[in-house]
Amino acid sequence: MVSDKKVRIAVLVSGGGTNLQALIDSQKSGVIKSGEIVLVLSNKADAYSLERARNAGIPAVAVTKAEFGADFENKIIKTLEENNIDLIVLAGFMCILSKDFTDRYKNRIINIHPSLIPAFCGEGFYGLRVHRAALEKGVKVSGATVHFVNEIPDGGEIIMQKAVEVMEGDTPETLSARILENAEWKILPLSTELVCEKILNNQI
Ligand code: GAR
Repeated sequence: MVSDKKVRIAVLVSGGGTNLQALIDSQKSGVIKSGEIVLVLSNKADAYSLERARNAGIPAVAVTKAEFGADFENKIIKTLEENNIDLIVLAGFMCILSKDFTDRYKNRIINIHPSLIPAFCGEGFYGLRVHRAALEKGVKVSGATVHFVNEIPDGGEIIMQKAVEVMEGDTPETLSARILENAEWKILPLSTELVCEKILNNQI
């Protein structure tokens, strides 16, 4: 494709933002070249992610339910529209988006989930809870999944997955750390680039 146009990406976060950092680093290293992170939006005012964004020179805003109540999603949409966002990347964003929202951005929202979907996913499965459930079940392999977001929590089309071994004596924390490092920080940037390329080429 002969164009220097880039997909305008908003990353939505809630917490520490190690996945956000992986995206920022991948943009710097050129792994992400078809898109540019132009906005980081957190639903938590004190999320460390906001600092990571500002350190990288990326505009960062907090939109909280406490402040906007029933208008929470409308405020997010308004912010996305004001910034001409083409693609939304959920990177540890701990809110379930309504059908109205996901319909509006069909094939334009992707999410990273810390298990091999369809295992340990859906409502109530987020963060360390996912790893706790995997360990309780005794699985020997877990991993991460990047998928498109639709109205079903963790139910949209799968884009990329990577498996990670569960080790003897793992805790939710050690398993989470291994999955972040070996799967999430790799497949989220790769999937983001893949989806950006498809958008630029009008394939989705
Ligand atoms: C990540 O493990 C991500 O997969 C998970 O939250 C963590 C956020 O970490 N997301 C979910 O559980 C969504 N259902 P981070 O803030 O360091 O990127």
